[in-house]
Amino acid sequence: MAIPHPIVTIVGSLRKESFSLKIANALAKLAPASLKLDVTTLHGISFFNQDFEASPPADWLAFRDKLQKSNGVLFVTPEYNRSIPGVLKNAIDVGSRPYGKSSFLGKPVGIISNSPGPLGGVSAAKHLQNILPGIAGPILGQPEVYLNAVGDAFDDKGALTKEALQKVLQQYIEAYAAFVERAHK
Ligand code: FNR
Repeated sequence: MAIPHPIVTIVGSLRKESFSLKIANALAKLAPASLKLDVTTLHGISFFNQDFEASPPADWLAFRDKLQKSNGVLFVTPEYNRSIPGVLKNAIDVGSRPYGKSSFLGKPVGIISNSPGPLGGVSAAKHLQNILPGIAGPILGQPEVYLNAVGDAFDDKGALTKEALQKVLQQYIEAYAAFVERAHK
């Protein structure tokens, strides 16, 4: 059997009980054998500052290295004020440099937004679709996934219990796996 594609699965929230983190963990379990999801939170990534580009901090280098060694990047993010959280934008800025050498280049991208509210974080997902094309690989267009009402989807251990949500995630991760296979043929 082929070695599974390593997929950096970036969680857009730092919150301990984050729904995004729980969704990323659920995806890691639902993923087919062709993918290995590495659930990655953004704790410890320093603020991007162009002054540090000549001598980047170790945490930037480690994050870039992880991205470069991956075969794809999957974003699981909440929406903050109709956009992506600042920590996520910061990490994307860090990964996108040095100029012309983005660590996201060529990586097939998946985007899953979510919200306990009714709109599923759709604006955050759309903003990612604006940000990424110049610095990343192709973005999976279909299926589109904006998960709403995620607040009652998990048990007290953080496991996904909402069947409808499980189904959507299963469909998405299978489509993303096929997308990654195509990108690495
Ligand atoms: C939010 N929340 C939110 N929800 C939404 O659907 N659209 C939005 O624009 C916002 N804006 C927003 C701003 C800020 C600063 C916070 C803290 C929260 C609510 C958000 O979806 C909710 O807190 C989620 O639980 C955050 O995601 P995690 O941490 O559970 O992954």
